[in-house]
Amino acid sequence: MREDVSAAGRTALRTEDINLYYGPFHALQHIDFQVYRNSITSLIGPSGCGKSTLLRCFNRLNDLVEDVRIDGRISIDDAPLETIDIIDLRRRVGMVFQRPNPFPFSVYENMVYGLAIHGMRKKGRQEIVERCLQAVGLWEDLKDKMKQPALLLPDETKQRLCIARLLTIEPEIILLDEPCSALDPIATMRVEELMIELKKDYTILIVTHNMQQAARVSDYTGFMLLGELLEFGATEQVFTSPRHEKAEQYITGRFG
Ligand SMILES: Nc1ncnc2c1ncn2[C@@H]1O[C@H](COP(=O)(O)OP(=O)(O)OP(=O)(O)O)[C@@H](O)[C@H]1O
Ligand SMILES: [Mg+2]
Repeated sequence: MREDVSAAGRTALRTEDINLYYGPFHALQHIDFQVYRNSITSLIGPSGCGKSTLLRCFNRLNDLVEDVRIDGRISIDDAPLETIDIIDLRRRVGMVFQRPNPFPFSVYENMVYGLAIHGMRKKGRQEIVERCLQAVGLWEDLKDKMKQPALLLPDETKQRLCIARLLTIEPEIILLDEPCSALDPIATMRVEELMIELKKDYTILIVTHNMQQAARVSDYTGFMLLGELLEFGATEQVFTSPRHEKAEQYITGRFG
């Protein structure tokens, strides 16, 4: 856990007074928070409180939902979100979902897909594939299986592959929406270790239902309830002396 909170000055992502409406439903209410560079921030809170909705604001995935309205300010690296080209944004802010979702292609094709979309020439791709699979601990395992269909891999491998696939296009921020919920406890632990390894080079924002996971991996934690971010701070503070009564009740398992 991060002790030196004061050194956390550099903000990768910031929201100021975000409100999001699904039609008439006010799903995110006055969200002010920030994600510090090279840290892991967890969002926790009961089902339906808006965690995924908030995460999807950061790569503009909510734009695809009909009848959504968002106001307030979001900035990535101090640049307003709306000034960032969408293709560039999706490269800079990558996302991993609950169910591992490799494309129905080979391992290799999964790994070069993003590179091709972003117009990287063929030369040099092999090296990137190797480096990114190394980064998620899959290279030894997969180096002779490049032509295998990715969908046939075990779940943990698939999820790691999805992370590796993101790394090829050099994101700055990685959004993970309950990335371990389809994994067994051992695989979960190994993916947690991977996250801690990755934060040296990336900024990570993770939604999790697993409070132990938030406590283990994250430097900062935000607690959401009914569309509000009720509590946000250093993980240790949020878990040991939450300011908000509801956060305390949730953390101690009294509801959720
Ligand atoms: N596309 C949508 N249209 C209308 N309402 C939506 C839509 N997506 C989510 N909601 C509603 O917005 C609220 C927040 O949903 P969201 O999925 O962000 O919650 P969550 O905290 O991620 O929940 P969970 O832990 O179950 O994944 C919920 O009340 C949900 O029903
Ligand atoms: Mg969700």
